[in-house]
Formats: sequence, C-alpha cells, structure tokens
Amino acid sequence: MIQVPRGTQDVLPKDAARRDVVEAHAKRILGAAGYARIETPTFEATELFARGVGESTDIVQKEMYTFDDGGGRSVTLRPEGTAGVARAYIEHGMHKLPQPVKLWYLSSFFRREAPQKGRYRQFWQIGAETIGSGEPAADAELIVLLADLLDAVGVRGSRLRLNSLGTPETRAAYREELKAYLLAHEDQLSQEVRGRIETNPLRAFDATDPGTQHVMANAPLLLDRLAGEDADHFAEVRQLLDDAGVAYDVDPTLVRGLDYYARTLWEFTSESLGAQSGVAGGGRYDRLIEQLDGPPTPASGWAAGIERMLLAGGEQPIAPAPVDLFVAIDGVAARDAFRLAGEARQAGLSARMELATPTRSLKGQLKQADRLRARYVAIVAGEGDPRLKEMDSGEQRELPLGDVIPTILRGSRLS
Ligand code: HAM
Repeated sequence: MIQVPRGTQDVLPKDAARRDVVEAHAKRILGAAGYARIETPTFEATELFARGVGESTDIVQKEMYTFDDGGGRSVTLRPEGTAGVARAYIEHGMHKLPQPVKLWYLSSFFRREAPQKGRYRQFWQIGAETIGSGEPAADAELIVLLADLLDAVGVRGSRLRLNSLGTPETRAAYREELKAYLLAHEDQLSQEVRGRIETNPLRAFDATDPGTQHVMANAPLLLDRLAGEDADHFAEVRQLLDDAGVAYDVDPTLVRGLDYYARTLWEFTSESLGAQSGVAGGGRYDRLIEQLDGPPTPASGWAAGIERMLLAGGEQPIAPAPVDLFVAIDGVAARDAFRLAGEARQAGLSARMELATPTRSLKGQLKQADRLRARYVAIVAGEGDPRLKEMDSGEQRELPLGDVIPTILRGSRLS
C-alpha cells in the first residue's frame, strides 16, 4: 500500500469541515479590519528565501525543499509566506496604492523538519501582513486580531510573549556585545551554539541544553539596550495592548527563527500543545521590502498554524450540514431523479440522489437519507407522481413532479 510521505497528512472531509470554520473566522475577523486575500505561488526563486528569510536561519540552511525547475533555475517550495507576499508587493507596485496595504492568506508551506505531533513537513498557515505602516498601532492591531482569531477558534491555554529587537543598528551593536559574552563562555556552550556565534549569536537564547541555558541566564539582553525611538515604539505597542485588554508577558529572550524581524516580535503558545507549543507568531519586518530591492517600506505581520490551532482547539467534531432533499429511486426512474435533483439545486436547495451501485432497496435509501439528515425525500417511480416524504414528521403524500420543489421551498407541512 502506498502511503503519504513522512510528515505529510491527508485533510479528510471531517478535518476539512473544521478547517472551513477556521477559515470563516479568519475571513470575518480580518475582512472587518480591511485585509484582502492574496495567494502567491507554491514555489518561488530560491534566492527569495535565501535573501528574505536569511542565509543563517535553520529554515534556509536545513529545511527547504529546493530543486531545479528544469531550466537551470533553482526554485524552492515556500517554507513561509512573508517573503512571497513581500515579493508580490514589490512586483505589482503596491507601494503606489494608498498605504498600508493589508493582505491575508491561507496557504500550505513546506519545511524539512523532524515530524512529530503538531510538526509536519507540509502544513497550513493563515497569515496577515500590514505593509506600509511603521506605526505601533499596526503591530497592536495585528496582535489583537490574532488574539481574536485564536479565541474564535477555541485555542485553549494560550499565552502571548512579546519582545522588541530594536532596529538593525541597535541589534548590530548588541550582537557584538553578545558575541563577546558568548566567546568568554565558549567552553560551556553546546557545539551548535558555538558554531553559530559568528553568524547568529541571538539564537543561543533558543538553545535547550543545560550548559548553554546556564550561560544565557546571565547574558546581556537586547531589550535593555533599546533606546530612543525603539524604546518609545515598544512602549506604545504595550500601551495599546493594555488598553485593548490583551494580556502578554514581555520576554526579552524571545527570538524567532527568521532574520527579517526588527522591533516588535511576538508569539502565542498554547499549553495544550506539548513540545510544539507555538501556535502563532509574527513581528515587524521594516527592512525586508528594501532588502528585496523594493522601496523602503515598514511592515508587520503574523502567521498561525492551522494544524496547531485545531490541535489546541480540542477535537469538537462538526456535523455536516443537513440536506434539503434526497431523491430516492423506486424502479427505473434515474432520469427523473437526476432532473429533480438538478432542478432542486438550481432553486437553491441542497440535494442528493441515490447513486449507489447496485441501487439500494427503498428501505436502504431511506436509511441513507436519514444518515444525511435529509429534510425531505422524494421517491420517484418509473410512472405516476412521486411521493414526497417529510422526514421529521414521517408524513408523506403524492404530488405532481413540478410541485416537489415549490412545496419544499414553501416549507409547508405535508399532512
Ligand atoms: P513561523 O513562526 O515560522 O512564522 O510560523 C508560524 C506558525 O506556523 C507557527 O506558530 C506554527 O503554528 C506554524 N508552523 C510552523 N512550522 C510548522 C510545522 N513544521 N508544522 C506545523 N505547523 C508549523 C512564519 O512563518 C512567519 N512568516 C510569520 C510572519 C508573518 N511574520 C511576519 N509576518
């Protein structure tokens, strides 16, 4: 038997129904705040992620599915959505539109990570990006909308961690300070962290080995080095969240695995998720558009993992929508049944007809209609008028074929 590749999974109809609910919440919440849907291609030029996400990140170094497009160009299955949206913003001259441009997406992404519960190699995200605003209010708005979405989806036990990375200049000075600190304690660090002192010293805060954690407990913090406008910006974001009643913890050790962030950074975790506790995350990326050859454009955004939202939201099954009409066949009447089901759909009803092979007995068909929670069953026979049965009351009567749909539309009782 051929099975799905490791780390991927099928979205079965029962899962799709729950995803539809998540999508509807996203559409409602983000739509009301002026976000328009965007979808970018599943694969992009590899260079986009190398330059956008960052050469030194785990994503670019280890996790991308990269291949030749058949014409000598290297392309990559998108590991995340922000770089592609930024590319589209530049490519379509969206900087000429009134700013900010607010975009959202629901797409699948690909990372070659070790699969486990809540961590897949193909996964889905809902993402939102506000491009063209540097305001603290843009960050706060994004965070409030994300909190609303997680709430609507029923994510339990969530906690918001917030940090600020300052501007790249502040960060550059801090990096030097941190590098010197790490080099002074090199013998206590894990090999992985030691290997990254030059390229990405900040990631040392993410390390899970006790030696590195011990060193990092006393490491200098970027948050303590924020000055002037950076500090004011972060204070304003916190003030707006306080005003909105969104609870958060400032966590100066929060770093995320993407290089494009500057200033505000946040992550929602859920205690019901276990090891892969990150349910959603985002931040400000004021330099990304420029780094990808666009005009200097401040921007901010987030993404929430659909699988993780569903895991953290509990497993409430969603009953499929009831069917208005089931057309049962008594004898040789497939053409009438086919026509009636089609006309019912044209009239705006949901309709199904008997399609089993071999055709079920009439009793079996009524049982199937019951399973589908059909409101009415029309039993069409080869000759004579069909019988219309109201499943709730069990009442039924014969009526001309042309009266079946109007009767259902009127919702009149059959008795
Ligand atoms: P990220 O934190 O890498 O951010 O991913 C966002 C969310 O996607 C995570 O919180 C998690 O729920 C989900 N996720 C990530 N990797 C996996 C995986 N292997 N399996 C299942 N779910 C996963 C970004 O992707 C940024 N583009 C977010 C952003 C948008 N920043 C600014 N704008």
